[in-house]
Amino acid sequence: MPVLVEQDPSLVDSLVRAMPIGSHAVSATERALAWLDQHPDEYVVALGPSVDLGSALATAEELRIKRPTVSVILVREDFDTDVLTKAMHAGIRDVVVAGSDEKSLTHAVERAHQLYQALRGPGGARQLGRVVTVFSPKGGVGKTTSSVNLALALTDRGARKVCLVDLDLAFGDVAITMQLFPTHSIEQAVGSEDSVDLAMLEGLLTRHEDSLTILAAPAHPDVRERVTPLLISRILRALRDGFDYVVVDTSPSFDDATLTALDETDECVIVATLDVPTLKNVKVALETMDMLSIARGHRHLLLNRADEQVGISVEKVESILGMPVSAQVATAVDIAAATNAGTPIVVHKPGHPASLAFTHLAASVTGQPVGVPSSATHESEPPRSRGLFRRSRS
Ligand SMILES: Nc1ncnc2c1ncn2[C@@H]1O[C@H](COP(=O)(O)OP(=O)(O)OP(=O)(O)O)[C@@H](O)[C@H]1O
Ligand SMILES: [Mg+2]
Repeated sequence: MPVLVEQDPSLVDSLVRAMPIGSHAVSATERALAWLDQHPDEYVVALGPSVDLGSALATAEELRIKRPTVSVILVREDFDTDVLTKAMHAGIRDVVVAGSDEKSLTHAVERAHQLYQALRGPGGARQLGRVVTVFSPKGGVGKTTSSVNLALALTDRGARKVCLVDLDLAFGDVAITMQLFPTHSIEQAVGSEDSVDLAMLEGLLTRHEDSLTILAAPAHPDVRERVTPLLISRILRALRDGFDYVVVDTSPSFDDATLTALDETDECVIVATLDVPTLKNVKVALETMDMLSIARGHRHLLLNRADEQVGISVEKVESILGMPVSAQVATAVDIAAATNAGTPIVVHKPGHPASLAFTHLAASVTGQPVGVPSSATHESEPPRSRGLFRRSRS
């Protein structure tokens, strides 16, 4: 996830725009270094004009040895040959001028990505997968529909391995939505908190297609009581080892299972619809997530049933919720029909506007432009240092 270090908000806006979708800004180099500690797959750090030259050079020197696959790009208001020489000695890979030509930063980030891929090589070490939780405080808004289609879009036609976990433990319907009939579910993991690993979980997964598998919800609602937060957290961590993305469908409340998933999540998709009660509840949910520092800066707002006639505009939603809409899906009979036929719309009609919206959402989640292999977000602090349940686990 490309990261920019810059304090000036107006510069942050223009520079982040020149970086891939999902790139994010932090205010100090220490934060960028903390981010890098938690994101071994990061490939670039841009140091904006507010970072003084001395600390930019020191940061680059440190990364040159510690993280040679991370490129440092220096962004200056202007520079001379003395700066260039020092930058070169410190291992800075590119120096660009802020404001002159946005493309120069875009190109520098692209070059950094190419270098990263070349350094890692085709057999580069496997990175831990990312957890993507699909959440809404309201029922029936399209969480399961979105989880299923997002998971399929994230497979990128087989290029990525994705596991979809049904954490609507009482009434999960991921399996039925995909017309799968699981022989095992999370139920068979109950009591295995101390022995959960990928090999064990593989026996509980149901394959949808080569690159997508699901971990189904229990067949009976009462099993929910026996699925502990510790078990959920260990399952999600184990799945990271084997999958590029672990998509989690949730129930419409902040129950223990949802909170645990949110606590483990790298990216959160919040599903809203264009009605006042839902928007009110989503607003409260976002405030709660702020309080708990959940996925701050890694949230993607999906507007489902985003139909123009209802009297609330997208701009209004964005201003009420204080965040941009990442993707919009209109009400479409094709979506429900595809679901009923057991072939989600993304597979059934890849060119359908709803499928394109889910593909766009997947691009927002991965930080990759559509069709380009993986990474990026909008952020102000590293996301995985929080924890409501984390304290009592691991
Ligand atoms: N954009 C859409 N257009 C038409 N139908 C839709 C759309 N989104 C969802 N649906 C339909 O609405 C119903 C509810 O959707 P879904 O099950 O995904 O919601 P949910 O948020 O998971 O519900 P729950 O809270 O009960 O888990 C389903 O029948 C689904 O096919
Ligand atoms: Mg559901």
